[in-house]
Amino acid sequence: MAQRISLTRYLVEQQRIDGLIPAQLRLLLEVVARACKGISQAVNKGALGGVLGTAESENIQGEIQKKLDIIANEVLIEANEWGGHLAAMASEEMDGIYVVPNRYPQGEYLLLFDPLDGSSNIDVNVSIGTIFSVLKKPEGDRGVEAGDFLQAGHQQVAAGYCVYGPQTTLVLTVGDGVAMFTLDREQGSFVLTQENVRIPEDTKEFAINMSNMRHWDAPIKRYVDECLQGVEGPRGKDFNMRWIASMVADVHRILTRGGIFMYPWDKREPNKPGKLRLMYEANPMGWIVEQAGGAATNGKQRILDIEPTQLHERVSVILGSKNEVERVTGYHSTL
Ligand code: AHG
Ligand code: MN
Ligand code: MN
Repeated sequence: MAQRISLTRYLVEQQRIDGLIPAQLRLLLEVVARACKGISQAVNKGALGGVLGTAESENIQGEIQKKLDIIANEVLIEANEWGGHLAAMASEEMDGIYVVPNRYPQGEYLLLFDPLDGSSNIDVNVSIGTIFSVLKKPEGDRGVEAGDFLQAGHQQVAAGYCVYGPQTTLVLTVGDGVAMFTLDREQGSFVLTQENVRIPEDTKEFAINMSNMRHWDAPIKRYVDECLQGVEGPRGKDFNMRWIASMVADVHRILTRGGIFMYPWDKREPNKPGKLRLMYEANPMGWIVEQAGGAATNGKQRILDIEPTQLHERVSVILGSKNEVERVTGYHSTL
């Protein structure tokens, strides 16, 4: 049997390659993975663990929080605050940044996360996940502040997600391709199950919430309409559609067999650039997809080149198989 490589061993070996991962970043990634194991346990208990249902609170985006949104947020904070690897954290579920308490040493990294992605799927037992992004705190002796998080996605030093589905799978990039690890529950450790993940450049599968069709802009309407025309239309082939309503699960499918995922701007809330969050969802997923040979844009520019102006900034997202993303992005400049 082929030798099993644990996440710990993988990270140690990455650390040896020209300091690709400094020791503090390795620790950070191990701690995030451990937190994801804890969240996975809570997810698995479901009704038996009292984790289903809604909490009595809203987050800063005005969304009603689920119990598991709050539990996952707490697990990530408690796991990460004492290790000395972080200066501060930011989360979709917290209004402001969480500075590491001064009873603990402060590190040089900033951790951002969507603690529980796909909240509407928790109670119906469909795949959900955690998405995270790691930045470096800007140089200098002053304390950390919210503005330090406002870095473009190309500045990320690590990004990943963990999908809690039939299997619990952790997907990671530190800028050297994408690796996947599957949780071995008996051993309690993540085991490397795929390296050098590649997204096929072409696809016949698209993911979008079709119920919003009447609210879309012309380029998105054109693209989807051409897919729907199938073999008789301008694309000359039939397309399939999937929409899980958990970005982690949709992106995981795309990493596994290709596809395009879109959550574009729409007319429901014309003043918001989109639904998804740049710092917690689009940047980490955009980088993972690019590292696997795919592309990620907002229709006009590369997601990773957007200079953020707010922590909870929203963005249009088009990502996945390169040729399809380029096609949709091209439609934005010609329509
Ligand atoms: P979250 O649960 O973190 O708020 O994210 C949900 C996101 C994303 O995961 C998914 O693709 C999308 O919202 C689904 O939105 P619709 O319900 O509008 O389809
Ligand atoms: Mn989300
Ligand atoms: Mn969330």
